[in-house]
Amino acid sequence: MLPGAVTEQALPGFHLVRHPLADLKVSALRDQDTPPPEFRRLLQELSQLVAYEALRDFETVPATVQTPLGPAPGARAARPLVLVPVLRAGLAMADGVLRMFPAAAVGHIGMFRNEETLEPVSYYFRLPPGAGHAQVLLLDPMLATGNSLAAAAERLKKEGIPKMTCACIVASRPGVARLRAAHPDMTIFGAALDDELDERGYITPGLGDAGDRIFGT
Ligand code: URA
Repeated sequence: MLPGAVTEQALPGFHLVRHPLADLKVSALRDQDTPPPEFRRLLQELSQLVAYEALRDFETVPATVQTPLGPAPGARAARPLVLVPVLRAGLAMADGVLRMFPAAAVGHIGMFRNEETLEPVSYYFRLPPGAGHAQVLLLDPMLATGNSLAAAAERLKKEGIPKMTCACIVASRPGVARLRAAHPDMTIFGAALDDELDERGYITPGLGDAGDRIFGT
């Protein structure tokens, strides 16, 4: 385990992706000298690794596929996959997952944090048709206070999505606890787990502001 990261011991509902590739990419992502193009690429690749684990229970049904030499047993999705990135940093995660699963549809939730109260403010919400019976992956690279993701999940439930999985890159212990307290049915996957938040609600050591580092703002 790398410095700054801790185990997910005794953190129900949280799954830490354990793989040397993920550790190397998280280290490079955290590095303050990693420029936006490299940061985006790493975040997209990590999103694929996290989604690979988060979709382990993705429902498929048997389907026969014709190879040039004859029929072979195969699988197809039992229900569509819908990705719901939380704007704006979640967009880079969706880009990564879409490369692996191009048939996924994408909804969007726009939220920003009131920097004084740290409470989420919603400014945009849109889901693809049929999202109610899809398998839904909620994407936000930073699970910090957990307030935005808890509000996003609440909104999705209100709109008829009974259950979803959350994929992030860096989670904080308090954020995981908050999100699970609000949504005990939520399973959360991440590539790193940090202990603390600072007074602004940033994950420490974290990686800074993911949106700024993705978009160079
Ligand atoms: N959002 C970020 O981009 N980084 C944090 O550490 C917390 C929220």
